[in-house]
Amino acid sequence: MEILESIDALKKALVPIRRRGETLALVPTMGHLHEGHLQLVRTARQWADRVIVSLYVNPFQFGPAEDFSSYPRTPEADAAALRRENVDGLFLPATEELYPRPPEAMTFVEVPVLSETLCGSFRPGHFRGVATVVLKLFHLVEPDVAVFGEKDFQQLVVIKRLVEDLHLPIQIVGVPTVREADGLARSSRNSYLSPIERPLAGALFAALNEAASALERGLIAGDEIASKGQKVLESKGFEVDYFAIRRLDDLGTPGPLERRLVILVAARLGRTRLIDNLIVQRD
Ligand code: PAF
Repeated sequence: MEILESIDALKKALVPIRRRGETLALVPTMGHLHEGHLQLVRTARQWADRVIVSLYVNPFQFGPAEDFSSYPRTPEADAAALRRENVDGLFLPATEELYPRPPEAMTFVEVPVLSETLCGSFRPGHFRGVATVVLKLFHLVEPDVAVFGEKDFQQLVVIKRLVEDLHLPIQIVGVPTVREADGLARSSRNSYLSPIERPLAGALFAALNEAASALERGLIAGDEIASKGQKVLESKGFEVDYFAIRRLDDLGTPGPLERRLVILVAARLGRTRLIDNLIVQRD
């Protein structure tokens, strides 16, 4: 696996891949890799001849009071895990190269509406930061395919819209969430959970399942199901940002006959903000 610490090194590594006519997949990450990321890498491998993983903790998707400085950074362990997966290149861009201008002079890209709802309304600027760094990575790596986890479902929808609206020739592939035995979605931020909080965290997935089966039974309205889910989590000590039922494709408010739905939740347990979701397709 080649370690690519500059744009120049990346570009040089891409030349033989392109010369040989091989296809290329990109897996963008912020590191502290876990089984969920490795699943993205394995999926990428199924879609393309070569796989490049980027590892960059992007400061511009964190709010001023968020966890940018404490975000877990484990580059050696990450590189070892990616080597075991036979990844072809690990791109570790430097902030000075990726963002050559001071923040007030930077070019950003916005995906309106989709970026303002759900997590966007609690984390202003977050999806602008995600869309901008992902677009930069897409331009630098020029992959045929890029792979993202469904765990960050809103992020996936935002990136699909970005690609569609800017006519980028990149196939976006979403990968189902990898879970712990109690259903907790694998996330780099799970390492913030204390030993007391960790056993409680499985309640998030249980609440999503509860809501999904109520939706499938169709006996009560979506709003009622969502507020019940929120109350259950609050009773277990979560501080809930949202518990929402949305249309699968564009995260809009669904009509009563909508069949393709996603239930999304964001809630804090102590200092850890957890997000999760569950897709529900009604016949
Ligand atoms: O999902 C993530 O890890 C990040 O938001 C991403 C897509 C790598 C952009 O920084």
